[in-house]
Amino acid sequence: MKATAIAQPNIALIKYWGKRDIERNLPAVGSISITLSDLFTQVSVELDENLRADSLTINGAIDAGRLPRLQRCLDHVIGEQRMRARIISQSNFPIAAGLASSASAFAAATVAAAGAAGLSLTVDDLARMAGRASGSAARSLFGGFTELSNSGDTINLKPLRDQYSWPLKVVVAITETGPKHTGSTEAMEISRTTSPFYGSWLEQQDGDLQVARVAVEKQDFAALAAIAEHNCLKMHSVMWASRPAIVFWNAATMRCMQTVRRLQDAGHNVFFTIDAGPQVKAVCMPEDFDAVREALAATEGVVEIMSSGLGSAARLVANS
Ligand code: PMV
Repeated sequence: MKATAIAQPNIALIKYWGKRDIERNLPAVGSISITLSDLFTQVSVELDENLRADSLTINGAIDAGRLPRLQRCLDHVIGEQRMRARIISQSNFPIAAGLASSASAFAAATVAAAGAAGLSLTVDDLARMAGRASGSAARSLFGGFTELSNSGDTINLKPLRDQYSWPLKVVVAITETGPKHTGSTEAMEISRTTSPFYGSWLEQQDGDLQVARVAVEKQDFAALAAIAEHNCLKMHSVMWASRPAIVFWNAATMRCMQTVRRLQDAGHNVFFTIDAGPQVKAVCMPEDFDAVREALAATEGVVEIMSSGLGSAARLVANS
C-alpha cells in the first residue's frame, strides 16, 4: 500500500491572504495562480500495519517538526483510523522560504495518500483536501492558470487556461535560503486582526480577480502585469500595516523589483510577484526570458536563480 505523487508549486498572481475559517482552512478571498513546471516535490506514502508510528523524511532527514501537519493531512484524506505511514518527501528547491513548497508538498501528499489507500477521488475532492492542509495547495491539483473561488462553505477550482496555450516563463530570484520568520497562517491572522487595510483588501479582491481573469483569457500581458503587481503590493501593504508589522522583504527583494522596473522601461514584457518570503518571482514572455534571467542573476544580493515554465497538475507516478 504505497503510492508516490509529484506536484509542482504554484505562484499566485492574484493572492490568497486571510482566512474566513481557520478550523477548515477556508480562504477569505479567491485567487488566480500559475502552476510551475521545473520545481517539484515528490512525496511517497507507505501505509504499513506493522508500523507503530508515522514517520516523515524531508530531503533525506527525519523531520519530526513538520510531521503533525502531514499526519493531519493523511487523517483527513484516509480517515483517522488509518494504518501508520512512512512519508518521504523530496523537493528540488528550498522549502519554507516563500517558494510555495507547502503547495507542492501538500498537493503531492494528498494525491499519494489517496493512492496508497486505494481511494478514487475526483480532482475537486483532492483539491479541497489539499486546500485544508495548505490553502494554496488546492491550486497545484491543476496545471496552467487556475482560479480558486469561494462557494458556500467550500472552495471551487477552475482551470482558466492550460500551460501550452500561453507558455509564460518564471524566473525566481532567491535572496535568502533560510526558513521564513513567520508562517503564513500566523501572518494572515495578524493581518486579519490588526491591519487597518484588511477590509479594503477583501472588498477589492473580486475586482482584481475579474481584471486578471479577462487578461488571462485575452492573453493580455500588460493588463495581467499591472493587476498582478498591484495585487501583490496591496497584499504586502496589508502586512506592513499590521501590528506587529510583517515584512518579508530584504534589501535584495527591493533591488530585484528595481531590476524588473528597469527591464520594463527597456520594453521587456515582465512583472514581479512576491509571496510570504523575500524571493522575487518574475513572470515574463518566452522571448524576454534570457534578458530577465541575466538581469536578475546580476542583481546584488541574489544568491540563486531558478527558472521554470508553466506545468501540469499533481499526479500519481507510482502505486503498488
Ligand atoms: O497556502 P499558504 O498557507 O502557504 O498561503 C499562501 C499565501 C501566499 O503564498 C502569500 C499567497 C498565495 O495565494 O499563494
